[in-house]
Amino acid sequence: MNSISSPSAAGAKAWSGRFAESPDARLERFNASVEFDIRLVREDIRASIAHVRGLGRQGIIPPEDARAIEDGLWRVLAEVDAGEFALTVADEDVHTGVERRLRELIGPVTGKLHTGRSRNDQVVNDFRFWTKRAQIELVAGLAKLAAALREVATANLDVVMPGYTHMQRAQPVLLAHHLHAYIEMLLRDIDRVRDAWRRTDRSALGAGALAGTTYPLDREGVAADLGFAGVTANSLDAVSDRDFALDTLYACAMILMHISRLSEELVLWSSGEFRFIELSDAFSTGSSIMPQKKNPDVAELGRGKTGRIYGDLVGLLAVMKGLPLAYNKDTQEDKEGLFDAVDTVLTMLDIYPPMLKTARFNEQRLADAAVADFTLATDAADVLANQGVPFREAHAVVGRLVGQCIAEGKTFADLTDAEWEAIHPVFATHRPPLDVLASVNARDVIGGPARRRVEAALAAAGEQIAEARVWSDERRAAMDALFMPPAQSQHE
Ligand code: ARG
Repeated sequence: MNSISSPSAAGAKAWSGRFAESPDARLERFNASVEFDIRLVREDIRASIAHVRGLGRQGIIPPEDARAIEDGLWRVLAEVDAGEFALTVADEDVHTGVERRLRELIGPVTGKLHTGRSRNDQVVNDFRFWTKRAQIELVAGLAKLAAALREVATANLDVVMPGYTHMQRAQPVLLAHHLHAYIEMLLRDIDRVRDAWRRTDRSALGAGALAGTTYPLDREGVAADLGFAGVTANSLDAVSDRDFALDTLYACAMILMHISRLSEELVLWSSGEFRFIELSDAFSTGSSIMPQKKNPDVAELGRGKTGRIYGDLVGLLAVMKGLPLAYNKDTQEDKEGLFDAVDTVLTMLDIYPPMLKTARFNEQRLADAAVADFTLATDAADVLANQGVPFREAHAVVGRLVGQCIAEGKTFADLTDAEWEAIHPVFATHRPPLDVLASVNARDVIGGPARRRVEAALAAAGEQIAEARVWSDERRAAMDALFMPPAQSQHE
């Protein structure tokens, strides 16, 4: 395990020349970001490799020094991957810690690595690099959840259920149509993450501390070496902007908002009041006192965690709102919220698919509820309107019919021919469907619940899910390749 330790190695920093006194232990602890920015260590090392290669290519430092530093950095990366890398609070942050370790391995030539670079462009570049990897995994996870919902929808194409407005039974729909609504939300979430990716995909190296650098850096070459599509266009903006993190936090908040709505339905549907669904034992929990209880804790926690992730988004927005250009140490606060949000979303995208795929739907209960409370009343009004009765009048006629049925304790199915005719003469010859599926299939518009429309929508969603998988697989492979030491990749 890579580790963080607290003992201070006072005066260990390579760049503490200006200071006569060593740092107070409290300052050191307060200032340090090692505890969380250790998560950027691989990105930091790989970005340093690209930077030093650029320095060598441009003749800014001798090519043999660049090679020695690069070789040393690959050794540090190997230590990280072996779980042997350790940071201390005296390192302050991961950037200084990596450089310190490099110096221990290869000696004073290490001092040339930081030519034409500042921790300010370094940290934001590392964070962009890390965020791109997170975005790849978010898209992959979203595709998995969308695919699980699609699988459940496809396996239940004949299941009807009540659609609701105001949480009152309104009109019957297919369960698959209801589930497809969530698939559409997730597909838009995928689009949102990919949109964030486009803006994250810019290398900040070369922005320096704030005002660029006097060295003839090959910014584009370094960016390409790291798989970035391009470079930032303003050095002040580059070191201070955290939009890419906020875009990603917003996408995470939105993903969880959608999953939270689904969770709310899972909680309701598992209740004795609904009994629409039974979650498998493997994804349910018990009570310490009530032996009969089977609780949907996963869905409740998913709903609850959503609140905390909104906090991560609002937290970083608040950090940023008062910051003058350019770099301010405040932005060190950018990382924990995004780490938390990405970790939480990825965990949820991992647990929801198996929970949904192992849930059992109570078809009879859903079908009974689908026809209850006069959910076919709109169909009855449509019958009249189709025969030339103005819809408003048809609405009033059927409204009276529903009132009469309620008063007499009847449903539409109990009415005699004479009763239908008495309500309106058109009903002598034309009747609304009493069968829910007929009602559902009659609502045959694009985006509607008719079975053939739902099948078409699920097919289209399947293509979009497959495309998202290709997007994330390709990018993950390209990113993994960046971290292969040259010798290893030559042997392949
Ligand atoms: N740990 C710092 C951060 O996260 C790295 C940059 C520090 N730069 C500085 N000038 N102190 O922002």
